[in-house]
Amino acid sequence: MRRIILKNAKENMILAKDIYSEDGKILVASGQKLTSSIIKRLKDFGVYDIYIVDDNTDIVEIEDVITKEIKEEAFRVVNTAFSLEYINSQEITPEIRLLISKIISQLIEQKEVVLNLCDIRTVGNYTLFHSLNTTVFALLVGIKLNYDYDKLLALGMGTLLHDIGKVKVPKTILSKKGPLQEKEYEMIKMHTIIGYDILNSEYKFEQQVAEIALYHHERLDGSGYPFGKTRDEIPQTAKIVAVADVFDTLVSDREFRKRLKPHIAVEYLLNSCSTHFDSYIVSKFVTFISLFPIGTPVILNTREKGIVVHNNPKFPSRPIVRVLYDSEGRKLPYKKDIDLALNFHYYIVDVLEDIEL
Ligand SMILES: [Fe+2]
Repeated sequence: MRRIILKNAKENMILAKDIYSEDGKILVASGQKLTSSIIKRLKDFGVYDIYIVDDNTDIVEIEDVITKEIKEEAFRVVNTAFSLEYINSQEITPEIRLLISKIISQLIEQKEVVLNLCDIRTVGNYTLFHSLNTTVFALLVGIKLNYDYDKLLALGMGTLLHDIGKVKVPKTILSKKGPLQEKEYEMIKMHTIIGYDILNSEYKFEQQVAEIALYHHERLDGSGYPFGKTRDEIPQTAKIVAVADVFDTLVSDREFRKRLKPHIAVEYLLNSCSTHFDSYIVSKFVTFISLFPIGTPVILNTREKGIVVHNNPKFPSRPIVRVLYDSEGRKLPYKKDIDLALNFHYYIVDVLEDIEL
């Protein structure tokens, strides 16, 4: 399995990762043989890259940290919770509680998680993936901080719905491409207070859940919103969501900018420690984020090109790379894996968009 850009996709290649539509249904399933009409459909849908089955790497499929069933259930719950007609209903609250408890059980079962972040996302399904990913990130941090079950449950529910207030901010402002006017930015900032009100008064969640929506844009140095709170004034759960939220936003394509690669987004978090983010939380966060997800094409300092085939939880920046092209650009006739954790004279110089085979 490897990642390729859709532009280079050819008929008869086999898709190795499901692609979801805007409402969270599977648009094209993994295992599907590509045809010209499927490729066109994916292009129309705004897909930029895909994972394909590839004989050069023996990775069949990457195990997700949560099952496909839970993912689909999460998409359904988020879709419902984020629809305006449901805002006054409390029916969804027990469903959210149940969903988060299932996610917690799946996460605590796994010892050394390395998140591969290889979901194919589009601008259209941003909210679904963003809500679910930030929840998984936040819960993994909570587990590392030895939160008890009730605290994890509150953290998970608040994270899943941290941006619920956006349902009452006009879409035209949320997805505006150009710079925002002051009045528009003020409206965006209001999603924190609106979110708190919805979670508190409409969905009747506990205070610890609702305050995550209220404080997730506060920053340690007081530069955040809505109140400009600093360090100890911000609940720890909201500090966790701040890190998870920013990271996931940076690695997603948005209407107004292209996504960053995971290793660049991690660099950003590390650089903003102690001004914006709690460094202890960031130090826990970076332990389970794969900097170079499996299937990523990379170039090494030796100019050899290859694909990441395994991530080492102890050394996230030093995966195993299967070299496919030598330093002169010739295709290797034999299998050559380099474990960067054992060979320190090798390192990844850059992530490539694609390797043409
Ligand atoms: Fe937000």
